[in-house]
Amino acid sequence: MTDPLPIRHLEFLGGLAKPGGWRPEGALPEIAFSGRSNVGKSSLLNRLVRRKALARVSKTPGKTREINFFEVNRELVLVDLPGYGYARVSKDQRAEWRPLIEGYLKQSKQLRGVVQLLDVRHAPTADDLQMVDFLAELGVPTIFALTKVDKLTKSAAAKRVEEFIEGLGVTRDQLVPFSSATGQGRDELAEAMVELAQAPAWRSGE
Ligand code: GTP
Ligand code: MG
Repeated sequence: MTDPLPIRHLEFLGGLAKPGGWRPEGALPEIAFSGRSNVGKSSLLNRLVRRKALARVSKTPGKTREINFFEVNRELVLVDLPGYGYARVSKDQRAEWRPLIEGYLKQSKQLRGVVQLLDVRHAPTADDLQMVDFLAELGVPTIFALTKVDKLTKSAAAKRVEEFIEGLGVTRDQLVPFSSATGQGRDELAEAMVELAQAPAWRSGE
């Protein structure tokens, strides 16, 4: 497969720290990445853009607290949302994230799609299901990246994929088994993202 997203240029544009705060100007299409803390979001982003440390990977969950914007090839913006559902951060901090994440998703005119990350090994948590419902209600095109697939055997992974299709009520082409450790799924995900970015805005009137 030729690389659907060869990385020629990468730029960190900045972070959005509170609802209604600074966000990058410009009209480039945005793809946002959503998932529970520790699901492997930063690792997936780094794999995607073939960098070791564009997004910070950490052993302590809950590190990414702002919404970070990364521009790729001056044609696409990747939006790293803070991980939700981490039990050990304070209630106050958790209360701050929801309006930040939901506000961005509701308001961004450039948003073309969301990559929702789920750990392939586990059933979605209550937080995951809440986020999936929110995305469905919003109507934003969504792809599911099933992370850490290197931790399962091939047959176990295939079985989990079927369970996700059933549980989420989605089709096979909305799911991408992914491993940041091996790179499995990188090109498939990149291709799906490029397709979303090129599609017209899904929100009516924009
Ligand atoms: P927060 O920013 O804290 O919300 O976490 P995150 O979702 O960005 O997760 P991060 O990428 O920091 O990864 C969390 C842990 O999972 C790290 O120890 C990673 O090395 C590990 N990890 C992430 N992706 C994979 C994967 O595909 N395979 C394996 N084996 N480990 C992974
Ligand atoms: Mg992170």
